[in-house]
Amino acid sequence: METEIINIERNKDGSLTDEDLENIKRAGDMIKAGGLVAFPTETVYGLGGNALDKESSKKIYAAKGRPSDNPLIVHISKWDDIGKIVGEIPEDAQKLADTFWPGPLTMILKKSEIVPKETTGGLETVAVRFPSDEVARALIDFSGGYVAAPSANLSGKPSPTEAKYVIEDMSGRICAIIDGGEDEIGLESTIVDVTVDPPIVLRPGFITCEMLSSVLGKEIETDRAIIDPKSGIKPKAPGMKYRHYAPKGELTIVEGNDKDVINTIGELLKTDKENGLKTGVMVCEENSKFYDADVVKVTGKRGDQKEAAHRLYSILRSFDDEGVERIYSESFDKEGFGAAIMNRLLKAAGHKIINCK
Ligand code: TXA
Ligand code: MG
Repeated sequence: METEIINIERNKDGSLTDEDLENIKRAGDMIKAGGLVAFPTETVYGLGGNALDKESSKKIYAAKGRPSDNPLIVHISKWDDIGKIVGEIPEDAQKLADTFWPGPLTMILKKSEIVPKETTGGLETVAVRFPSDEVARALIDFSGGYVAAPSANLSGKPSPTEAKYVIEDMSGRICAIIDGGEDEIGLESTIVDVTVDPPIVLRPGFITCEMLSSVLGKEIETDRAIIDPKSGIKPKAPGMKYRHYAPKGELTIVEGNDKDVINTIGELLKTDKENGLKTGVMVCEENSKFYDADVVKVTGKRGDQKEAAHRLYSILRSFDDEGVERIYSESFDKEGFGAAIMNRLLKAAGHKIINCK
């Protein structure tokens, strides 16, 4: 299959041109006809198909090479559209929607009959997200209102934050890719299960537990299985059990005070070089000059969580592109949005972490 690349041109003020809208409408027609289209969102690029058509969902799993027990998120573009796909809307869900939608928050709710089991991986619940990105919303509208979309990467690769990575993974597998530039946040949405009281975070993201707690007036926590992966507890979001986001090179996180981290990584780099291995580091701007690695990638200024999140996946992919065999990353503070960054980084590292004492 030839994959069409649709470039979003935009007017000077950032709004979509008439031609952009025409092109997005055409892409919406492809989804209506049962095809798949990748598109930008404020988090990561999504791989969209008609969420209410089980054949489209099957195609999504096939294109990604994803296990079919890993459910898809249904994207909507208007609050009123939610009624058709969910059984009931708890008060907490309403409050969270009022505050955070449209935006990078996904809610798990009881599903209605109309949502096929193929979309929800056999579950009686459905994940619903109302993205803020204008291109995403226009596409969802033109597609009939309900777009199932996982991240648009091949299973096991980092989620794509730019169209070039989608092209790398999905060319020849889907009808079209809409190139809307770099995604703003760079990490997937926060997932919160509102079928339980108090609601529980199944995947950390830009919307933090503290933000959710302050809106709901009760303590919101993250699924224990995510915080303590060695506990052996099964994660409540089926997708969180898979080893995601893995670069081909072996990634190790090194944690501790600056001086110890720099020394430890320095020694590891030396040994790797002696063994003829190509090395890479992922570090803050302030420390980058201290590392003698073949590839040095800067995550941003120390403590700039937004920048680190924004760059994380493209840095991981670039190590692959440059054939790096051993990668070392400084660790990040786990406060606030940092919880999401460390969650993804730990998964990418298969939880390999050295703690310098
Ligand atoms: O930011 C995002 O959420 C992106 C963009 C494209 O919107 N999408 C995304 O989808 O990250 P995906 O498929 O890569 O991740 C969906 C996660 C998986 O871990 C899946 O197991 C979980 O959501 N999930 C989906 N439906 C669920 C349900 N009913 N109950 C529990 N977890 C669910
Ligand atoms: Mg994904």
